[in-house]
Order: sequence, then structure tokens, then C-alpha cells
Amino acid sequence: MRKNIVLIGFMGCGKTTIGKKLARRKDYEFVDMDEVIVERAGMRITEIFEKFGEAHFRKMEEDLCKELSTAEGLVIATGGGVIKNAENMRLLKENGTVLYIKASPEHIYRNIKNDKSRPLLNCEDKLTRIKELMAERKSLYENGADITAEITGMTSSKAVWYITDILEGENVL
Ligand code: S3P
Repeated sequence: MRKNIVLIGFMGCGKTTIGKKLARRKDYEFVDMDEVIVERAGMRITEIFEKFGEAHFRKMEEDLCKELSTAEGLVIATGGGVIKNAENMRLLKENGTVLYIKASPEHIYRNIKNDKSRPLLNCEDKLTRIKELMAERKSLYENGADITAEITGMTSSKAVWYITDILEGENVL
């Protein structure tokens, strides 16, 4: 059976959009971790953060990583903060190749400037916040990845072609 393809990267880099297209193209099943958590909690992510705190969300995220570590044949879009927990990365790598979708803060800002669904970017100056958080997390994304794909400036369709080529070149697909 095929190993999972695990997409990591900052909020708004396109993990969900790219993951869905990649899965369709290569006949994998697609799982969006945030979507599973929202379904299980019966509320949106902003509400989970407000009512129970970030730690509760992170616990749900880790539990889901445990479950997914034994799955196969999936393209998994993770939440942008999954890399904050080393155990998550160990679990996701058990049966997965981890691909980092790297994009500049400006590229990300363009994708999420009108979005209200991300509690960690709920502030006036989103671009500055993106830059700060990205600086904090940069090495976690880089060290967590088996493969990095820099997609700054690409449309999601172009990014899918590019990522497919990279994965084929690495004999993952
Ligand atoms: C988070 C990213 C979000 C979501 C939550 C926390 C983060 O997912 O899991 O709001 O800490 O970066 P996306 O990367 O899909 O936006």
C-alpha cells in the first residue's frame, strides 16, 4: 500500500486546496485534519479556541496524528501548527512522507487577508503577525520536512503540477 503524503506549512499556504487537487489527480484519499477536528468538536476552530483554549485544540490534533500514523494511501492536509509538537511529526512520519509547502509572508497574506477563521491571525496587522509567527516556526517546518516545495507566486493549479513533479522525482508517487 502507498505511504501517506503529509502536507505541512504555514496557515494559508494552500495545504487544503493543493492537497485536494493532488489527491484527486493521483487517486489518493484526502483528509483535512482541521476539518476532522471541527466535525468531532461540533464547532468551528475559533470557537474551540474561545471555549476550551488552544491546548485543547492541540490535544485533539495530537490524538488525530496518532490515528493517522497507522493509515495509508492518504494525502493529509495538516493544520499550520502541527509542527509545534515533535511527537506529532514522529507519528505522521511513521507511515508518511512529509512535504513542506513553503511560501513568502506576502503570498500567504494575499490568501488569508479577508479570512476570519484563524484565531492566531485575528489581529489588525495580519502581515506583521504572519512574519513574526513564521520566523518562530521556520526551523520547525524545515526540520520537520522530508521534502520542501517553494511555491511563492504560483497559482494552486501550478503548485500541484510542481509538487507532483517533485514527488515523482523523489519516487514518492
Ligand atoms: C493553526 C493553523 C490552522 C488551524 C488553527 C491553528 C496554526 O490551520 O489548525 O487555526 O497554529 O498555524 P491552517 O494551517 O489550515 O490554517
